[in-house]
Amino acid sequence: MKEILIDTDCGVDDAAAIGIALAHSEVNVLGITTVNGNVGVAQVTENVLRLMPVLGRGDIPVFRGASRPLIAQPHHAGGIHGHNGLGDVQLPDAGKTFESAGFAEGILRLAREHPGLTLVALGPLTNVAIALNLYPELEELFGEIVSMGGALGRGNITQYAEFNYFVDPESVQVVLESKVPLTVVTWDAAVKMAHSEEEIRALGLGDSKAGKLFFDMHQPVFAYIEKSYGSRMAMFPDPLTMAYVVNPSIAREELRGDLKMELTGSPRRGASVRQKGERVKLIMEIDKGEFQSILLRIRNLA
Ligand code: BDR
Ligand code: CA
Repeated sequence: MKEILIDTDCGVDDAAAIGIALAHSEVNVLGITTVNGNVGVAQVTENVLRLMPVLGRGDIPVFRGASRPLIAQPHHAGGIHGHNGLGDVQLPDAGKTFESAGFAEGILRLAREHPGLTLVALGPLTNVAIALNLYPELEELFGEIVSMGGALGRGNITQYAEFNYFVDPESVQVVLESKVPLTVVTWDAAVKMAHSEEEIRALGLGDSKAGKLFFDMHQPVFAYIEKSYGSRMAMFPDPLTMAYVVNPSIAREELRGDLKMELTGSPRRGASVRQKGERVKLIMEIDKGEFQSILLRIRNLA
């Protein structure tokens, strides 16, 4: 079983990714850290605290993370995740708060207790960069970082950049400069995994209480994409990333390379450019059928 720590800017697709992790015995979720991204960190933290008991895992420790990127001003995802980041679905108050320990101490403790763990980063890499800077021993303790982010083709927040890496490109640079094995599940892979609302309905995602919750949360995503592209679709970047963590053999196209982050204030800021090298494994495509069967397992939750 793979031991994982999830870092998230929860986010409707982050929520579905957490659901996937909890629905699969191949992974054991040791803890969750929250980070500024889709919405502010206070709302992200509230979202995770409320989501976990609904999914039957209120016991997993939640640590509140960074409220802003290393250098840049905070930038949020606008209406795509609804006003509250969970597609405006209202979950009951969990009646509990986040851990009193700081997020970096939480990560260090869990990594010492479970050396070789996989850190699954579903948002900007701010927390990961801070933790690595504070505690360099994490470079040896982490088995792998799997990060959703970056686009080799067209981005989603600008023409050049994907949202997570646009929000905090300096933190990506810190992670790239570490020794930790790094797998990046790209926006390019998410674009190839676009599903229409009808396809998702036909798959039967909504045929259970938990499945319906995630289907309902995605309504603002379908509406937002309809406004921009004319049809109701979702790309599932974070669920795709977690599906890869559950079963890496579902990757259909992998590239090796070095990544160069664009850190200037130019319109290309946040762009990730692949260069010759071996530093990063880039996931460019995931098998659609395999992804669907992993996604549908969230119907079995609570
Ligand atoms: C990423 O940005 C966020 O809006 C999603 O949660 C995902 O992590 C996709 O660019
Ligand atoms: Ca996310």
